[in-house]
Amino acid sequence: MTGRLDNRVAVVFGAGSVGEGWGNGKAAAVLYAREGAKVACVDLNPAAAEATRAIIEAEGGTAIAFEANVTQFDTIRAVVDGTLDAWGQIDVLHNNVGTNSQGGPIDTSEAEWDRVMDINLKSMFLTCKAVLPVMEEQRRGSIVNISSLASIRYLGFNYISYYASKAAVNHFTRAVALQYADKGIRANTVLPGLMDTPHIYEAMKAHYSDFTEMREKRAAASPMKRMGDGWDIAHAALFLASDEAKYITGIDLPVDGGLHCKTN
Ligand SMILES: NC(=O)c1ccc[n+]([C@@H]2O[C@H](COP(=O)([O-])OP(=O)(O)OC[C@H]3O[C@@H](n4cnc5c(N)ncnc54)[C@H](O)[C@@H]3O)[C@@H](O)[C@H]2O)c1
Repeated sequence: MTGRLDNRVAVVFGAGSVGEGWGNGKAAAVLYAREGAKVACVDLNPAAAEATRAIIEAEGGTAIAFEANVTQFDTIRAVVDGTLDAWGQIDVLHNNVGTNSQGGPIDTSEAEWDRVMDINLKSMFLTCKAVLPVMEEQRRGSIVNISSLASIRYLGFNYISYYASKAAVNHFTRAVALQYADKGIRANTVLPGLMDTPHIYEAMKAHYSDFTEMREKRAAASPMKRMGDGWDIAHAALFLASDEAKYITGIDLPVDGGLHCKTN
């Protein structure tokens, strides 16, 4: 099926990828464009935003690249203004940016806790603050926030700031969903499980010196005995962003091969 986002404008924060290949945000930005959306590709790394924009344009889609930091409201504001100048509307807000930091309550510094909270949680507050007035005026919009299975499960790693920030993302999203439910605006989260994306080779290097071992362990932990990938997250996001999900708001959608059902 194509054209599921025809005449729509999507803003994807974190539309690049930290490494070669397909991260969750890059795949979502490209998939939105394949389905007809004009896409604002936003990233802290301008080369990463530009790379995604170039892929979309090479496929015949429409995209603009923006450099912005999701922890700084003025740069988010500039993205919203630039997108409205170009296309006059914002229908999909996709918040993909997230980081993690190893450590429990004792060994995580206050500064590190604040950094993770700012990137994972405050970012979503700031992008919603900038985009919701646009959506409210349009009486139309879908917000897709990328959380994590770690928001509802202890995954065996001590990254307390990640668990806490992602759990807060879920309830932040529910509160937005309910406040705006009668205004044509929906808000949902996607909870990636154990995905094979460039992100994990950065985020998990503290736990694994051997990436083959990491891949094997992550695959073995999955009920499907394999990891998912960025496209699995992108397809879930596309569904939530599109009108096919027009009666769905406030949900947390695990995309994890069933891992959330496991008890051990
Ligand atoms: N890969 C997994 O296994 C997994 C599992 C659970 C959750 N997630 C979530 O998925 C999301 C990331 O997925 P990805 O594969 O696209 O990761 P990624 O690390 O490749 O991130 C995408 C982009 O975000 C950009 N970015 C980082 N900080 C930024 C900032 N302050 N402002 C703007 N852009 C910034 C990076 O430059 C990068 O290009 C995160 O929210 C993460 O918590 C991933």
